[in-house]
Amino acid sequence: MVITDFLNGSSRANMIGKQRRIYKLKIGLIIYSLTGNTKNVAVKLKDKLSSAGHSVSLEEIKISGNTPAQPGKFQLTTIPDIDTYDQLIFGAPVQALSLNPVMKTYLKQLPELNGKIVACYVTKYLPLLWFGGTGAISAMKKICESKGAQVLGTEIVVWAESKREKTITRCIENLSRLF
Ligand SMILES: Cc1cc2nc3c(=O)[nH]c(=O)nc-3n(C[C@H](O)[C@H](O)[C@H](O)COP(=O)(O)O)c2cc1C
Repeated sequence: MVITDFLNGSSRANMIGKQRRIYKLKIGLIIYSLTGNTKNVAVKLKDKLSSAGHSVSLEEIKISGNTPAQPGKFQLTTIPDIDTYDQLIFGAPVQALSLNPVMKTYLKQLPELNGKIVACYVTKYLPLLWFGGTGAISAMKKICESKGAQVLGTEIVVWAESKREKTITRCIENLSRLF
């Protein structure tokens, strides 16, 4: 029997409210951004989720070596730890029609993601989604799912002027609705 069974209606509501506050879920918004576009979206997404009452931390993956990073020619120097988060959002740019190699390397080195709720987004410049966007997103999803995560949503943001605002808005609306 739970202790709240003994309490009257308003005490019970208070206690449940306190329990919810104590067990507030933490969202980790983990990104790699070379020129700032992916970070720009992350800041807006963080604002939206925070104003909905969520606890959100924005963390950036950092590397050493030349940029743009080439596969196998860089080291991760800042590797955000996912342990403290219940839910995760990963964001990265498309590079050479693929997922940016920094995010790919980061995701691959993560421990098991069993039980974690995940969403992913990529930013890209070329307006056609299949010029790297769909492939990059499916690579992110595949790696996360192979580690046991439940990927609830994915978005592609197009930075070309004609599609930028529309795709940013859609990304923020759709991803924030998942949490
Ligand atoms: C080396 C390099 C390769 C890129 N390759 C692609 C590509 O294949 N398709 C695409 O749509 N955009 C491509 N872009 C554009 C970036 O994906 C886009 O500007 C993205 O929003 C950058 O994100 P960031 O500012 O967070 O680094 C490329 C950019 C760079 C620097």
